[in-house]
Amino acid sequence: MALNFKCAYLTLLIIATATAVDKNNFKTCDQSSFCRRLRATKDGDNSYVLNLDTLHVSDNAVEAELKNVEADASFKFILTSLSGSIFRVFIDEVKPLHPRYQVQGALNGEPQVAKLEVLERTKEKVTVRSGDNKAVITASPIKIEFYKNDVLVAVVNEKGLFSMEHLRTKTPEGEGDADQQLKEDPGAWEENFKSHHDSKPRGPEAIGVDVTFPGALRIYGLPEHADRLALRSTGPGGLDPYRLYNLDVFEYEMDSTMAVYGAVPVVYAHSDKNTVGVFWHNAAETWVDIGNSKDTNVVSSIVNLVSGHKPENTVDAHFMSESGVFDLFVLMGPTPKDAVKQYASLTGVAPLPQYFTLGYHQCRWNYNDEDDVINVVDNFDSNDLPVDVMWLDIEYTDGKKYFTWDPIKFAHPNAMITNLTSTGRKLVVIIDPHIKRESGYFLHEDCLANDYYVKNKDGNVYEGWCWPGSSSYPDLLDPKVQDYYKALYSLDKFKGTTSDVNIWNDMNEPSVFNGPEITMPKDCLHHGGWEHRHIHNIYALLYTQITYEGLLKRSSDRRPFILTRGHFAGSQRFAAVWTGDNAAEWSHLQASLPMCLSEAVGGISFCGADIGGFFNNPDQELLQRWYQTGVWLPFYRAHAHIDTRRREPYLFNEDVRTRIRNALRLRYTLLSLWYTLFREHETTGEPVIRPLFYQYPNDPNVVDIDNEVLVGSSILARPVTESGVSSVNVYLPGGPDEFWYDIEDFKQYQGTGVTNIPVTLDKNPAFYRGGSIVPRKDRPRRASTLTHHDPYTLYVALDSNKSASGTLYVDDGESYNYRNKKYLYLHFEFKDNTLTSSLIDKTDFPTDAWIERVVILGPPAKITKAKITSKSLGSVGLETSYDGEGRSLTVRKPGVNIREPFTLKLL
Ligand SMILES: *[C@@H]1O[C@H](CO)[C@@H](O)[C@H](O)[C@H]1NC(C)=O
Ligand SMILES: *[C@@H]1O[C@H](CO)[C@@H](O)[C@H](O)[C@H]1NC(C)=O
Repeated sequence: MALNFKCAYLTLLIIATATAVDKNNFKTCDQSSFCRRLRATKDGDNSYVLNLDTLHVSDNAVEAELKNVEADASFKFILTSLSGSIFRVFIDEVKPLHPRYQVQGALNGEPQVAKLEVLERTKEKVTVRSGDNKAVITASPIKIEFYKNDVLVAVVNEKGLFSMEHLRTKTPEGEGDADQQLKEDPGAWEENFKSHHDSKPRGPEAIGVDVTFPGALRIYGLPEHADRLALRSTGPGGLDPYRLYNLDVFEYEMDSTMAVYGAVPVVYAHSDKNTVGVFWHNAAETWVDIGNSKDTNVVSSIVNLVSGHKPENTVDAHFMSESGVFDLFVLMGPTPKDAVKQYASLTGVAPLPQYFTLGYHQCRWNYNDEDDVINVVDNFDSNDLPVDVMWLDIEYTDGKKYFTWDPIKFAHPNAMITNLTSTGRKLVVIIDPHIKRESGYFLHEDCLANDYYVKNKDGNVYEGWCWPGSSSYPDLLDPKVQDYYKALYSLDKFKGTTSDVNIWNDMNEPSVFNGPEITMPKDCLHHGGWEHRHIHNIYALLYTQITYEGLLKRSSDRRPFILTRGHFAGSQRFAAVWTGDNAAEWSHLQASLPMCLSEAVGGISFCGADIGGFFNNPDQELLQRWYQTGVWLPFYRAHAHIDTRRREPYLFNEDVRTRIRNALRLRYTLLSLWYTLFREHETTGEPVIRPLFYQYPNDPNVVDIDNEVLVGSSILARPVTESGVSSVNVYLPGGPDEFWYDIEDFKQYQGTGVTNIPVTLDKNPAFYRGGSIVPRKDRPRRASTLTHHDPYTLYVALDSNKSASGTLYVDDGESYNYRNKKYLYLHFEFKDNTLTSSLIDKTDFPTDAWIERVVILGPPAKITKAKITSKSLGSVGLETSYDGEGRSLTVRKPGVNIREPFTLKLL
């Protein structure tokens, strides 16, 4: 959560009483000296030249000296070929005055290199090839063209905006002749923002470059922003660049390029022919200007060159970071699926979560005491509302001291947790990074005694202001601090917890109420002599990595569940994310889809938004729609600010309760699908939810659609996120041969584009894709943990060839036994009126779950019965029946355990 009214700070009161974001608290590009400087770079005024006489070629890379001829600064340039169709461009100073920061923790290990060969070499150019990828490096000024199958897809430094400010000593006033531009920039050596001073001990050290994507129609990525999925054009005089700087933005606004809590510097440029990605591996504050020729009608010369005369659309991105080395990955595609997988091969995937994490989570700031927690669950039960997880926000602690419990309101945490878990539920408690500076508090004492805190610019412990009042912050770069923190989660340290307690890391941008832009000053100092400026965007990543490893240490055979607000590239390996402190407004409900879709292509599939909206009170229509919409996002949690009215679903009248119950039940029927998708994400890197362009890359009509979400490839949802509507337009993709079936009434549609679907408050359009088989558990239960042996219904949605296929993944839902072959991974296939089930992997997992029904959508006519054949059943006749309109055919009680391969024939 963000700031609230209870803070004593005067400035906070001013912020807190505003009804919308106070933009004055946050910089624009113009107010940031390095952004201003880099943005002022003019097309073509590039003075960086590669000396190809120094070219060194190895099996995987080419290296050469790069010179800034104007400043007489020398750099090392390396282009490496990586396995899986990726190029890496790395540039660092040859002899920097100080080392430049290289990001830790975002990459999932060192990337594997691939073979590269030099095709051609002159004084001006080198051409290298790796598989069907080619890179042409031009020396003066430096430029790199990337070709996929001989088609030009990306150009680094096409516009000549490359810049790498070499580290230098400050020229005393009135002396020397340092870089003119820097001398003119008053913020190059120190900078003020509001009442905050940034001392910039190392002076200017910014880096920037442009990347142009010839032929691209749209560019996506750069989560997190409260904006559309397709990035919009920015530029001087227009929108500010997309900013990546993890910030606690109170009441963030919609349709904005402002930074919020997370920063994932990856983009994908996409057309109906090609997709190519760029990962800008940098942890410092970063701004990205986006250009799209459709918005400017300026078609770059290069495009004409490539395509003959036909003007093609083109997009470009100008990356600008405050510091660090130059480390850029080009993901060569050629499809969105390829590019997203290439990104996952670098930064990793989300490990399979526990099954319960996909159920419904009930949160509020705050549940008042132990009785409140248990009563809420009782009320869910007595109203037949499923829920898996109760959450405790900051008030459970003893005076905002993490790893402690309020001695009065939460005096018996073990008993409360036992009560909860005896009904199959779990608990999540919040642990934030700020540490209350109170003598006697063990965490503070330990951190002081062992020198674990981040320092201010003068080398003293940094003090900021956060929930507990005066606070300090652990220096997460220090390995000793990491080890110390991991141990804090052990059951004997964090008393009152059990293995069923999971962790919520909030405020980890980090949020500092009285800091510049509500975060830590950039000249604060970390282990290794790094300034906070160098590492800001990975602070949250490190924090969640430590929590993850701490929970693993605590309970080595439970998959940790962590929710984080701050995040960076690679955060998916440790935590789920949510979209932070949204508001009870329709626009925020709408934004939850593009925000999570953007995270999903940014590698972070496990994403959700606070159901109901965090700030303010939703009206009943909005609340119901939010529950219905949340069904289709991977993380499904309601949360509310302390000043809002209680809004647990059982508090509403029977109509509202019923609609919310139906939404929750729908979610629970589909948990096996979500779980299977998370397992497939872990093994393939494919996102769990997908935007239309990902699944239908050749359809240019879907490039702007971000109010629809695909769950895997088998369900398309178009949630109603507008008030008072009686119909919505749904774009159904795939062409006339692609069929879509309404998941409620099984009405069949063709994928011929925009289709108007009537809606009521009960209806939220969603469709099975013809050709998919979706396993569901249709028996309502109180919690997912109680469903493991429940029977399945297979929904077989036939395509225009009367075929379909699907998968189902099953394991114990909590341990790592699945890494020891204790799981089932099934393949279902329907063709020639026959459904077969087979094991994909030779594994086993004991379960009582059986198949109680097969429902065939778009069924063949005149079926009168069916026959199932399996090892244990032999051959058994089964009853079938059509629904009234013949849209579906149900085969009753196949009765086979899902472990067993079978054949089911329609007769
Ligand atoms: C746990 O449940 C028992 C039995 O229902 C009850 O007496 C006790 O007060 C509960 N304790 C807590 C902390 O919820
Ligand atoms: C139906 O089968 C034909 C021939 O195998 C194939 O080209 C087509 O893509 C299939 N249609 C669908 C919807 O899968």
